[in-house]
Amino acid sequence: MSEIKKVGVVGCGLMGSGIAEVCARAGADVVAWDVSEQAAEAGRARVGQSLERGIRAGKLSEQEARATQTRITFTGQLADLADRDLVVEAAVEDPGIKIGIFRELDRVVERPDAILATNTSSIPIVQLAGATGRPAQVLGVHFFNPAPVQKLVELIPSVLTSEQTQERARAFVTGTLGKTAITAADRAGFVVNALLAPYLLSAVRMLEDGHASAEDIDAGMVLGCAHPMGPLTLADLIGLDTLRSIADSMYEEYKEPLYAAPPLLRRMTDAGLLGRKSGRGFFDYSQV
Ligand code: CAA
Repeated sequence: MSEIKKVGVVGCGLMGSGIAEVCARAGADVVAWDVSEQAAEAGRARVGQSLERGIRAGKLSEQEARATQTRITFTGQLADLADRDLVVEAAVEDPGIKIGIFRELDRVVERPDAILATNTSSIPIVQLAGATGRPAQVLGVHFFNPAPVQKLVELIPSVLTSEQTQERARAFVTGTLGKTAITAADRAGFVVNALLAPYLLSAVRMLEDGHASAEDIDAGMVLGCAHPMGPLTLADLIGLDTLRSIADSMYEEYKEPLYAAPPLLRRMTDAGLLGRKSGRGFFDYSQV
C-alpha cells in the first residue's frame, strides 16, 4: 500500500467523480472540489448513482457504499485541498483552464512533498508542470471512463518529473487502487488515445461521408471485432466536446490529418450535442 492517504480531486464531472469514487472505495480520504457548491453537489449525486449501480451489480455492499460516501467531502473551496498528499486534476480538457488550476494548486496545496497530477488525455504534462514551482512533483495520471470499471491508468512523467514522484504515484495507483499502470511518454494522446482518437474520428468521417449509418458502423465493430461498444457510442460516452479537444491537441502536436476533428464533430459540439451527458450525440439518450 502507498503512503498516500489524503487525495484531492479537482473537477466533479464525469471523470472527476469517478476518480473520487475509485479513491474513496480504496480507503483514501478524498476532498473533491468544483467551481461552485452546486457543481460539487452534482458530483456527489454522480458518485451516488455509480455506487447504486455497483451495488446492483454485486460489486459492493450497501455498507461499503455508505462508507465510500462518507470518505468523500465535496467542496467549492479550493483551500480545502491544502493538506492533500496527492491532487488529481480532472477539469475540462482546456489548456488555459488547466494551467490556471495548476497555478492555483501550487499556491494552495501546503505539503511540500504533495504530488500534483493531471487526468488530461492529451495536453502536454510539462505545460502544466511549468505553471507550478514544483515541476518535479507533477505528472499525468490518466484514468479511463468509467473510472470505477476500467482497470487501466496511464502514468505520464514529463521531462521534469522526478523518479520519486513516479514511484509514489505508481505505488498508489497499483497498490492502493489496484489498477494496472502503464507508462507513456509526454506526447499528446499518450498510448491509448494516440490509438483510439484516430479510430473514433474515422468513424465520424465514415458517417459524415454517408459510408454507413451510425447503427451499422457501431454494429460492425461490436459484432465484427467484439468491442464492448461501437466507436460512435464510445464517442458519446467520452463526450463529443472532450473528443474534439483531444483531436485538437493531437492535431496541434503532430499536424497529421488523421487527428483533425471532422466538420461533423465540430458542428455537433457547436450545437451542444455532446453525447450521453447532454442527452444527444450520435445517438439519443433522452429516455436513459
Ligand atoms: N461500479 C462498479 N462496477 C460497475 C459499475 C459501477 N458504477 N458500472 C458497471 N460496472 C460493472 C458491471 O458490474 C459489469 O461487471 P461484470 O463484467 O463483472 O459483470 C461491468 O462493469 C460492465 O457493466 P454493465 O454490464 O452494467 O454494462 P455494459 O456491459 O453495458 O458495460 C461499459 C458498460 C463498462 C461502459 C462497457 O461498455 C465498456 O467497457 N465500454 C468501453 C468503454 C471504454 O472504452 N472506455 C474508455 C474510454 S477512453 C477514455 O476514457 C480515455 C479518454 O481520455 C477519452
